[in-house]
Amino acid sequence: MISTNIILIGFMGSGKSTLARALARELNTYFIDTDNLIENFENKSINKIFESEGEQSFREKERYCFNWIKHNVKSTVISVGGGFPIFIPEIKEAGIVIYLKVPFEEILKRMDENEIKKRPLFKDIQKAKELYEKRDKIYTKLADFIIENKNLSKSIEEVKEILNASK
Ligand code: S3P
Repeated sequence: MISTNIILIGFMGSGKSTLARALARELNTYFIDTDNLIENFENKSINKIFESEGEQSFREKERYCFNWIKHNVKSTVISVGGGFPIFIPEIKEAGIVIYLKVPFEEILKRMDENEIKKRPLFKDIQKAKELYEKRDKIYTKLADFIIENKNLSKSIEEVKEILNASK
């Protein structure tokens, strides 16, 4: 078990959910993903929420989700949507924030058509690249730690080292 929440932030497609799931298993605790929480609560895909209610409404749902996490979730690995820490910089109040940094070109290589389709803000690649440049700076400023998410087992080891060092 861990004594605090670990929150993984980073751009779309940087592998937050995959790492969060594997890390939780390794640390013998649970994992939650804010996009999944919102989709389950609304019973709608992220795409549908963007289409029918707009981005602003999605951001409000993320804020609601943050308040719930802050007051109810402990000792959990949490992956959040790419925009979550941009719109909710107080995210740090809910745990240790780790930025999974992956170069944009690498993200593009990893994302297949299906992964792109699920993400309303990734449909225009040029715009996504511009968003990446802007957000990378914000993630860097916000994060307690930054890891370059290249390889799953290496990233797990790095997070474990961070946890040991901050004990
Ligand atoms: C978004 C990222 C997505 C999802 C939504 C908006 C963003 O999550 O929350 O499509 O603003 O970067 P992932 O980072 O898991 O793709």
